Amino acid sequence: MDRTDAASKRQRVLVTGAAGLLGTPLCAQLGERPNIDCIALAKIDLDITDRAAAIAAVESHQPDWVINCAAYTKVDDCETNEPLAIAVNGAGAGNIAAAAAKVGAGLIHLSTDYVFDGSARAPIPVDAVTGPPNALSAYGRSKLIGEEQVLEEHLSATIVRTAWVYGPDGPSFPQAILRLAREGKLKRVVNDQRGAPTFAPDLATAIIRLMEAKTTGVVHVTNAGDCTWFEFAQVLLDLAHIDCPIEPCSTADFPRPARRPAYSVLDLSRYEAATGHAMRQLHDAAADYIRARQLT
Ligand SMILES: NC(=O)c1ccc[n+]([C@@H]2O[C@H](COP(=O)([O-])OP(=O)(O)OC[C@H]3O[C@@H](n4cnc5c(N)ncnc54)[C@H](OP(=O)(O)O)[C@@H]3O)[C@@H](O)[C@H]2O)c1
Repeated sequence: MDRTDAASKRQRVLVTGAAGLLGTPLCAQLGERPNIDCIALAKIDLDITDRAAAIAAVESHQPDWVINCAAYTKVDDCETNEPLAIAVNGAGAGNIAAAAAKVGAGLIHLSTDYVFDGSARAPIPVDAVTGPPNALSAYGRSKLIGEEQVLEEHLSATIVRTAWVYGPDGPSFPQAILRLAREGKLKRVVNDQRGAPTFAPDLATAIIRLMEAKTTGVVHVTNAGDCTWFEFAQVLLDLAHIDCPIEPCSTADFPRPARRPAYSVLDLSRYEAATGHAMRQLHDAAADYIRARQLT
């Protein structure tokens, strides 16, 4: 079945993982579009590890597009629960892809910079080498299985790799930094991991643009620019006018169960070429985040 033209016809867009960091602003933005009916399915509505349920849900709603935001994202917990990570991020992604393919819907699936090993020293292009042993963590390996299964099940799938996502609400790096600084507990921040913090509403807008452009294949989407966590913390503290001197430290100073890539900056050129839009600078997105929090 041919997909209808997103620009001119009413579209039904089904979102899984709809209550998450990304799913929430994505469904809000889809809901504001006059030509889009958004079907928001949280985990309680659809567990993507249940293949029959995934197919039944997609068949009953007959969407034009499916956007899979559902994932097991507790990166450290994945180290001790890799089977669950693979069930959700691997097989679950394949289930959604199969369901979308069955009804002729387009598919946008979310993946991660953690499929890479962090050894790059320049923005990582969409066709850079992934795969074991490149992914450093159980989470990264499970997301890589998801990418493979999605491409096997859905011939025209779009895979959006993103990184370092934070939302307007809910737990996030910026929220933790501002809280610790206000409590006088923020002293040191990791300075040997480099990436691009990505504001979930900006990612949501980009996903809708990719859908409207009917882009297929792998696309990298983050806010523009790059920084370390230490540098990002300084940006946030400056924007929030919090006087809290901090010191840079290394990843080894804060040992975590899952290894993180040292370099996670993704090359955005394919996104820009496909949509004709540039992603917002990370500093401008962070300013919006701070403004929104100070109003609430
Ligand atoms: N957050 C980041 O920094 C980041 C970075 C790179 C890529 N990504 C990718 O971006 C996408 C969106 O992630 P996010 O940041 O929005 O994470 P999130 O806030 O954890 O959202 C994921 C949602 O999926 C739900 N979920 C978990 N298991 C499920 C299942 N079996 N069936 C259906 N839903 C399930 C979660 O529900 P519960 O919370 O109730 O379990 C949660 O609501 C994911 O593919 C993630 O891998 C995120």
